[in-house]
Amino acid sequence: MKSALFLEGKVAVVTGAASGIGKATAEELMCHGAELHAVDCDAERLEATVKEWRDAGLPAHGHVVDCADEAAFRKVADDIAASAGRIDIVHLNAGIAVGGLAESIPAAEWRRIVNVNQMAVIYGVLAFVPYLKRTAPGSALVFTSSAVGLCGFPYVAPYAMTKFAVAGLAESLAAELAPAGIHVVTVFPGMVRSRLIPTSKIDLPEKWRGKVLALLDRVAMPPEKLAHCIVKAIRKKQRTVIMLNGMGPFFWVKRLSVSLYQMLLGWGTRWLLREKKQG
Ligand SMILES: NC(=O)c1ccc[n+]([C@@H]2O[C@H](COP(=O)([O-])OP(=O)(O)OC[C@H]3O[C@@H](n4cnc5c(N)ncnc54)[C@H](O)[C@@H]3O)[C@@H](O)[C@H]2O)c1
Repeated sequence: MKSALFLEGKVAVVTGAASGIGKATAEELMCHGAELHAVDCDAERLEATVKEWRDAGLPAHGHVVDCADEAAFRKVADDIAASAGRIDIVHLNAGIAVGGLAESIPAAEWRRIVNVNQMAVIYGVLAFVPYLKRTAPGSALVFTSSAVGLCGFPYVAPYAMTKFAVAGLAESLAAELAPAGIHVVTVFPGMVRSRLIPTSKIDLPEKWRGKVLALLDRVAMPPEKLAHCIVKAIRKKQRTVIMLNGMGPFFWVKRLSVSLYQMLLGWGTRWLLREKKQG
């Protein structure tokens, strides 16, 4: 059996670490012995989170940065490498959600989600891969996509687009970085209990918003459960973590038949639009 502290002496970076999946993964990494560098744009929440960890004796450092700011994000990578001396694990996890009917979402909102969910991930790859190459073999790069990065879905087109993009980037990089000894993990969560859905800008009729939040309450998994599987995937060199809470039936129907999935999605959307018209 491997040691419970299989990450002792390793340095991990997690983006979006002040909340939800990032926070839980950061904690799991520290519990396995890693020194943790938590990155987030929410200064207040990050400061409180890092204080909570340090008070509990965990080796955490906080870095306030908007990952969509290329120069600032690169500087954080360089600063962490300089102060910690190495970087072994990077989890590019920070993300936002934007939704509504695609045609009615303003271009500024599309740009905002592309900048955070796609461009910031690319900036992370450019900034951190050179450092991960120095600690390879044994280093790892983790991406958070989504179940909606496997199955398109009405009312979340901007989010689905960016999460498909992350999945494509990760799959390509997994092949490119394997010869260098960097292991790539892609995470595809269904619904997770976090701040993402309750605080996101999704233009839904109030009745549906209530239903989505009720469903979230019922089926969403705690982020700690996902975090446990993410760290296990790093340890066991698994390539994907697929945990589909609330999204399982969609995933399986699409695997069975893409045309059946598209037909059912079409029917569902027509029904939703009729409901919306009737108020
Ligand atoms: N919650 C879900 O149901 C779910 C499902 C699938 C995938 N995901 C993905 O998981 C990831 C984490 O989301 P979560 O559910 O933990 O949400 P969350 O809102 O609880 O946490 C996201 C964190 O990212 C930070 N963040 C957002 N934009 C940032 C930026 N530009 N720079 C730095 N930090 C930024 C936020 O401040 C926040 O602390 C996201 O990529 C999300 O798309 C979430």
